[in-house]
Amino acid sequence: MRTLDDIDTIGVVGAGTMGSGIAQVAAANGFDVVMRDIERSFVENGFDAIESSLDRFVAKEELSEDEAEAVVSRIAGTTNLADLADCDLVVEAAVEDMAIKQDIFADLDDVLPEDVVLATNTSTLSITTIASATDREELVVGLHFMNPVPVMKGVELVVGEKTDSDVVDLAHDLAEELGKETWESDDKPGFVTNRILMPWINEGIRAYDEGVADKEDIDKGMTLGTNVPMGPLTLADHIGLDICLDASETLFEELGDRYKPAYLLKRKVDAGDLGKKTGKGFYEY
Ligand code: 3HC
Repeated sequence: MRTLDDIDTIGVVGAGTMGSGIAQVAAANGFDVVMRDIERSFVENGFDAIESSLDRFVAKEELSEDEAEAVVSRIAGTTNLADLADCDLVVEAAVEDMAIKQDIFADLDDVLPEDVVLATNTSTLSITTIASATDREELVVGLHFMNPVPVMKGVELVVGEKTDSDVVDLAHDLAEELGKETWESDDKPGFVTNRILMPWINEGIRAYDEGVADKEDIDKGMTLGTNVPMGPLTLADHIGLDICLDASETLFEELGDRYKPAYLLKRKVDAGDLGKKTGKGFYEY
C-alpha cells in the first residue's frame, strides 16, 4: 500500500460541487490532480466552480493571482476514466447511486495498480457495499468532505467492514495534509453527520410545509436560537435538495420511519427546484 509520501497525483471522479471542491483543495495543497466527469461540459463547470472559489481567496488576498493560476494548472480535466491510471490515490465523488458507484469502483479496480487506495465521498451509502465491487476491499475507505469543501474544516472518515487500519491512517494523514480535521465513523447509514443532519433538515421542511412558521422564521429560529450558521431550509438549498432527498431515502430505507423524507422535499426535487445550484429551492438565488 502507498503511504502519504508516495502520493503525488490524486484522481477525482466527478467534477460537481464536491468533486471540484476536492480537486481544488488537493491542488491548492501541492498535489497534481486528474479530475474526471462523464461529459466535457461537466468538467468545464467544475473548472468554473474552482476558478470562482479561488477568486474569493484572491479577493481576500489569501492567495495571489499567480498562486491561483498555479492551482488550476495542477488540475487536468478528462472524460476518460483510464486517464486516472497513474494516480496514487483516487477519491470518487459521483452521484449518490449505489449501482453507478459500484460500476465506477469496478472500473477503477481494473485501471489502477493494485496498491492504490480508492476513497469514496459518499454521504450515506455503505462503504462495504461499494468496496464489494472491487478486488481490493481492504483498500476502500470513506473520505466524506463537507460542502463547501474549500471552506469546511471537517472530513468524516468512514471505515468499511474490510477497510485496513493502515488505510484509515492514510486517509487521516491525507486529510490533515489538505488542512482538514477528521473524525471516524463506522459504516452505518448516514455515518455521524448525515444521520443527524438529515432528520434536522427534514423536520425543518415539515415544519414549513405544516405551517408552523414561514421559512424565514424557521431559519431565523434555528440560526439565532441555536447558533448554527444556516437554518435547515437555507442549508438544504446550499447542499442541494436532490442530495438531501437521496441521503434521506437511504436513511429511510435502512433505518425506517423516523427518517422518511419530507413530502415537500420530494415535491421540490420533482419540480427541478434543487436549491442554489438551479437558482431556486426554498429561496430564490
Ligand atoms: N470557496 C471559497 N470561499 C468560500 C466559498 C467557496 N466555495 N464559500 C464561502 N466562502 C468564504 C467566503 O469568501 C467568506 O470568507 P470570509 O469570511 O473570509 O470573508 C466565508 O467563506 C463566508 O462566506 P459568506 O460570507 O459568503 O457566507 P457565510 O458567512 O454564510 O458562510 C458558509 C458560508 C461557510 C457556507 C457558512 O454559511 C456555513 O458554514 N454554512 C454551513 C455549511 C455546512 O453545514 N456545510 C455542511 C453541509 S453537510 C455536507 O456537506 C455533507 C453532505 O454529505 C450533505
